[in-house]
Amino acid sequence: MAKSNDSIKKILTVAFALCIVCSIIVSTAAVALRSKQQQNMELDRKSNILAVAGLYQEGDNVEEKFKSVTPRIVVLETGEYSDEFDPQTYDSFEASKDPAQSITLSGEKENAGLARQEKYSTVYLVGDPENPDQVILPIRGQGLWGLMRGYLSVQGDGNTIEGITFYSHAETPGLGGEVDNPRWKAQWDGKEIYADSESIAPAIGLVKGGASSETEVDALSGASLTSNGVTNLVRFWLGPQGFGEYLARFRSGVDSKEVEDAATDSNQTEGA
Ligand SMILES: Cc1cc2nc3c(=O)[nH]c(=O)nc-3n(C[C@H](O)[C@H](O)[C@H](O)COP(=O)(O)O)c2cc1C
Repeated sequence: MAKSNDSIKKILTVAFALCIVCSIIVSTAAVALRSKQQQNMELDRKSNILAVAGLYQEGDNVEEKFKSVTPRIVVLETGEYSDEFDPQTYDSFEASKDPAQSITLSGEKENAGLARQEKYSTVYLVGDPENPDQVILPIRGQGLWGLMRGYLSVQGDGNTIEGITFYSHAETPGLGGEVDNPRWKAQWDGKEIYADSESIAPAIGLVKGGASSETEVDALSGASLTSNGVTNLVRFWLGPQGFGEYLARFRSGVDSKEVEDAATDSNQTEGA
């Protein structure tokens, strides 16, 4: 005769009770750790912003260093600053999913593999916000396996690249995943976005077989598809559809302060 503890009913009861206890522990841990996870993600995002501008070393206090960076909202279509949203909390990636805050991309405009694009984006100014040493721009686009997200830092001349980083991607380690290799990223320092001062169409791009000009960066070896993705996304975000109008203000020497002052003056004249 089977012992009472070996009965099917008891085994199922214990298994069921164990499942309930475990699921309560797992969900409690998930809820309790959510805010910590979000804090860590925010810290990681900030350290990437600092790193692309060459302002972060391992072990630095991220929050402290981030005080030297000023976030501002830019209207992509005009390149002007906007106070419509709080730059501390505005999330351009989330906005790109909201039809009210974004536009649909099709045809040539879909080059970076993005179906929608936000109307407003956040830029991060390094140094004096009226005359920044660098502007850090969020960039994203499709790689071979999925969306690549990162930042690109441009010097105050609106043309010279300071650095690039990809903090989120699904490319294969050793192939497309080399977008995150510090040695490959180091090549971007000093590269130029535009071939001539008048053009708003970026010339910067990845080339196979070795970069031979200021607007060329070595492609990733054995990863042409990821390389094409990187070229497409940097040209998209640095071109007229992205931050082209915004960067043009720096390139023409019209800094943001003058633009804002001019807008205030014209409002006052109209109001008089
Ligand atoms: C398992 C596997 C993973 C791959 N991952 C990538 C990748 O992340 N990025 C990429 O561009 N190519 C990747 N490739 C290679 C592409 O299929 C393609 O061969 C390559 O992009 C061609 O680049 P090449 O012209 O520089 O040789 C992968 C191939 C295999 C078999």
